[in-house]
Amino acid sequence: MEQINALRAGVETALAAIKSPAELKDFFGAYLGKSGQIQALMKSLGALSKEERPAAGKRINDFKEEVLAKFKAIEAAIEKQELLKKYENESVDISMPAVFRSPGALHPVSIIRKELLDVFAGMGFTLYEGPEIEDDYHNFTALNTPQDHPARDKQDTFYITEDTLLRTHTSPGQIRCMKTMKPPFKVVMPGRVFRSDDDATHLPMFHQMEGLVIDKGLSMCDLYGLLDSLAKSVFSPDTKTRFRPSYFPFTEPSVEVDVSCCECGGSGCRLCKETGWIEILGGGVVNRKVIENGGLDPDEYTGLAFGTGLDRIAMLKYGVNNIHILYDGDVRILKQFKG
Ligand code: PHE
Repeated sequence: MEQINALRAGVETALAAIKSPAELKDFFGAYLGKSGQIQALMKSLGALSKEERPAAGKRINDFKEEVLAKFKAIEAAIEKQELLKKYENESVDISMPAVFRSPGALHPVSIIRKELLDVFAGMGFTLYEGPEIEDDYHNFTALNTPQDHPARDKQDTFYITEDTLLRTHTSPGQIRCMKTMKPPFKVVMPGRVFRSDDDATHLPMFHQMEGLVIDKGLSMCDLYGLLDSLAKSVFSPDTKTRFRPSYFPFTEPSVEVDVSCCECGGSGCRLCKETGWIEILGGGVVNRKVIENGGLDPDEYTGLAFGTGLDRIAMLKYGVNNIHILYDGDVRILKQFKG
């Protein structure tokens, strides 16, 4: 009993001194563990007589229970204290200035693409996207482009094999649409096109948007009305348009479409090379042979087709004089086109 009382005094002081999980562990080892002091008392029972042993053993056990209960209480308090510390360390200071992430923006070419698609959707056009890797047949032959046409030259066209190539325009979509859609229909085909070209106004990759209308009895007048209202929507309501005779193998007659210069309004400036006009489109009445190649009867159906360069329109509209600026990926430039 004396020994227990002596130990109790030590235990009380040691318990009162516990402040951390490490000290908690030390205490357990020193008093409650296998080689701790209470266990040592148990072992000393052997020195007592047989009669004394049970009572002494019970006292030691009671004492151990008492110490263990106190230990558990302190352990719980320490755990709670550690948790609070952890919460404090991990707390977020909501008064800190936020990390600013600059919001994304549409690329100028995407803005133009969207604007044009909106106008076409309003006119009842549907959307079609053909493959970027085309075959010679759809890109040239079916579009009535003769074998010796300069566009077929390896200098202008990226050939993949003898027969496959990166499409040089979106016009092969005309054939694909005629073959799969039931006339009458109106369809727009935006997409990437590729030509072996690289200077201030040309890149090996650029964007076109093709339009195709197939119906009975269409004429150049319909094309004019369509493209004139398109130009007015894209540039401004007072934009004027004019048709100039041109040549494309897949349209007959063919035209090039100019709009009054968006910079000077038609009086003449550097942008329009003092002419007052800027070319933005090629188009025409679909050649009878092309209608036939599309699987339709040219005596029954007529077609109107046109194609425009999205990069070119973006450059004109936003006053960008070098096409490379559009694709350098310089955020300082792109930031200016929040649209
Ligand atoms: N495909 C022609 C080009 O790339 C444009 C065009 C499309 C012309 C449709 C007429 C009809 O220049």
